[in-house]
Amino acid sequence: MPLPISTPPYRVLCVVGARPNFMKIAPILAALGRRAAFTPQLVHTGQHYDAAMNEQYFTSLGLPRPDLNLEVGSASHAAQTAQVMLRFEAAMEQLDPHAVLVVGDVNSTLACALVARKKLVPVIHVEAGLRSGDRDMPEEINRVLTDQLADLLFTTEPDCAANLLREGIDGRRIAFVGNVMIDTLRSNLPRAVAARQIAHDAGRAGLADGAHGYALLTLHRPSNVDHADTLAPLLRTVAAISARTPVLFPIHPRTLAAIERLGLRHLIDLPSILALPPMGYLEMLGLMRDARVVLTDSGGVQEETTALGVPCITLRDNTERPITISEGTNALAGTDPARIMALYEDLLRDGGKAGRVPVFWDGLASERIADHLLEWLGNGCRLPASAG
Ligand code: UD1
Repeated sequence: MPLPISTPPYRVLCVVGARPNFMKIAPILAALGRRAAFTPQLVHTGQHYDAAMNEQYFTSLGLPRPDLNLEVGSASHAAQTAQVMLRFEAAMEQLDPHAVLVVGDVNSTLACALVARKKLVPVIHVEAGLRSGDRDMPEEINRVLTDQLADLLFTTEPDCAANLLREGIDGRRIAFVGNVMIDTLRSNLPRAVAARQIAHDAGRAGLADGAHGYALLTLHRPSNVDHADTLAPLLRTVAAISARTPVLFPIHPRTLAAIERLGLRHLIDLPSILALPPMGYLEMLGLMRDARVVLTDSGGVQEETTALGVPCITLRDNTERPITISEGTNALAGTDPARIMALYEDLLRDGGKAGRVPVFWDGLASERIADHLLEWLGNGCRLPASAG
């Protein structure tokens, strides 16, 4: 690609689209903002638009108002991706960035990377190289393709580089910097809202401070929530767990819609289950920190529980974040009720995996990114002579 001949300050256009992007971009914007050599820009594609999925994150994370909101909203994958592409192309023309920085694996990540690359603007992917090996997962397609498009790839764990090299990516483009989401977790932990406060505010104070603690549940993967033959057994298993350990369940809009559509309300309308709306960042942090165990199909929550040292049972057959299993507190249960119950029983008996916090999940990943990026842009985006 032609090298951009430019001098600082570098306009780095950072993209957010959906909830899991917000806590990743916040520390990056802050780290760029601390360096005079950068002029950070922020575009929100509007993939997530509900106040509960959006504003409360912007407020609690202290995110600046986006320079532009593309307001794409929900649609099929093709329509959503296409709308982001169309509107992001116009946004790039308006903001004229030197580089585009995308995080994670949502549809907005891929759409914006594709537009930027074809406009010959360098693409930086933060959280590159994660692979579940499951190509039926929309996020896996987004990860593989975004990494192919990226000029600079920042990784969260050592395995990621091997995944990228296997896919033919030049090792000189890859930098292991650690986990920006954990930067946000560490800096916000002192402000986390206690779970007993959340249960109290919901009028169910007793649920969060019983002798056995509580289990926190999050569910939103289409493969888990869209069909009754998966969702109903999962919710029945949760109901069985709640007979021993109360369950706090902040419900994603997709999941709530599925529960209503499939007529499964009765499975969560129980005295031992507290259904909650989608939580803000500080509330979710408190709910994870204070939980006895977390049951989830989220990627980010697997990492956050590992950073917090809280046992996690993942309701998926695979994970793109294997370090949470090899080093952290995570265990894969899949969706088989017997396996979920067995892991839960083990946990009640022995307290769950102790785990340790992975290397570079130390609160400084964004600083490493900003330093690396400055050097790279200053070198006209040239790669070093040998892999480093
Ligand atoms: C998206 C990401 C997923 C991420 C998740 C976090 C992709 C392919 N998926 O999935 O990786 O883990 O965000 O939440 O990009 N909805 C609302 N209000 C909103 C947003 C969504 O009501 O603000 C409802 C709509 O009915 C929508 C559905 O949720 O159709 C799904 O939203 P969508 O953005 O398509 O994907 P998520 O399932 O949220």
